[in-house]
Amino acid sequence: MELARPSRKTNGKGVQVEDTQICVVMVGLPARGKSLIAQKAQRYLRWLSIDARVFNVGNYRRKDAAQPSADFFDVNNLEGERMRRAAAEAAVTDMLKWFKDGGIIAILDATNSTKKRRRWIKERCDKEGVETLFVESKCDDEELIMSNILEVKTTSPDYVGQDPEEAAQDFRNRIRNYEKVYETIDEEESDLTYLKIMNVGKRVIINAIQDYLQSRVVYYLMNLHIKQRSIWLSRHGESMWNVYGKIGGDAKLSERGEAYARKLPDLVKESFDGNDHPLTVWTSTLQRTIATAQHLPQEWNQLQWKALDELDSGVCDNMTYAEIKEEYPEDFEARDQDKYNYRYRGGESYRDVVIRLEPIIMELERSENILIVTHQAILRCIYAYFMNEDQEKSPWLNVPLHTLIKLTPRAYGTDRQVYKAAIPAVSTWRGKGSVAKHEDPLEDTTSLDK
Ligand code: SIN
Repeated sequence: MELARPSRKTNGKGVQVEDTQICVVMVGLPARGKSLIAQKAQRYLRWLSIDARVFNVGNYRRKDAAQPSADFFDVNNLEGERMRRAAAEAAVTDMLKWFKDGGIIAILDATNSTKKRRRWIKERCDKEGVETLFVESKCDDEELIMSNILEVKTTSPDYVGQDPEEAAQDFRNRIRNYEKVYETIDEEESDLTYLKIMNVGKRVIINAIQDYLQSRVVYYLMNLHIKQRSIWLSRHGESMWNVYGKIGGDAKLSERGEAYARKLPDLVKESFDGNDHPLTVWTSTLQRTIATAQHLPQEWNQLQWKALDELDSGVCDNMTYAEIKEEYPEDFEARDQDKYNYRYRGGESYRDVVIRLEPIIMELERSENILIVTHQAILRCIYAYFMNEDQEKSPWLNVPLHTLIKLTPRAYGTDRQVYKAAIPAVSTWRGKGSVAKHEDPLEDTTSLDK
């Protein structure tokens, strides 16, 4: 996404930086999904090439108090209070320094549960010309809070190595301590720019949004939910063009590809855990993905998306890599040099694909369990979004045929499980500089197989 505009600000090194810099200030009690929202916003913005970074106050506090008990968070614990204030101070100082170096959107991940604390953050940011956008996550749905408590006790560094039951009890006590001082954002703070998300998006309140970049962040956050769910990713079964080493086109499945399509329902079932199903199935509009999804249960909704069609290889459509190298040697070289930005003549670049996938990501965020059957370049971009892969690496990821990947977003990252169908297929992965299509993926350090 191009966000370049005439810039007035310069950083400490005299380099021009973006006009708009935003501190997204998270607000809310523990176990309200703040860290999940913060991590997701960072990933989304970076995926769109916007420099973004989470500053987590808990990480600063852990330097001096690694695994404190709930008492540490009691307002009457003066030492705890002092250390927590020092952690917030250190995080904000580092964040403002990062803005001076040209950062665009920082996400301050902390409870920021009092009006006084929020005012202090706003004043610090105002002084540096950094806008503030407060994002409060409020939740009184007991079931959701419980599932977040379970999530935190199993994934938070605060409870590593501790008895899960004791961890859950301590965490509940910590929440009680926060509740004693918690002040929701209200009319007294109507001068603040804020988004209040109640019960994971059932109700939202937006106040005083000032510009395009803020509204873009708000739109993304409004679409998020923090319910547990997974995303399944699969390429289509092996196609005839895969067998011939050609790219693009709209070929049928090979026999082995057909076998994968018949196997896919079992592979998906094998991956199920608890209440995973039913799934909604998304394919592209090309016949190889639709054929791959044809044996999945009839009662699962299927949707075809044009936006999930393979990267358009323009004049190189239906050619082998050897033919492309022969006919367009300069293009072949340029693509290897900067695969993310290289745009095929009359076709697309990976950067273009990310832009066309934005509505897909937005819809994925609004949805629950989804299985996506699509193409290599598209899966690389979607995978990069969930797994926070950088743009240098993502176009080179090996996403093997006949493999199902299950991604489960968690508060501190995305879990990944890989299920391989024991049905052979050619490898379509191509290393830099090479024209071969049958390289051994086990030699490839970027393989998702591992
Ligand atoms: C923490 O110390 O875990 C977070 C501090 C806060 O946000 O209140």
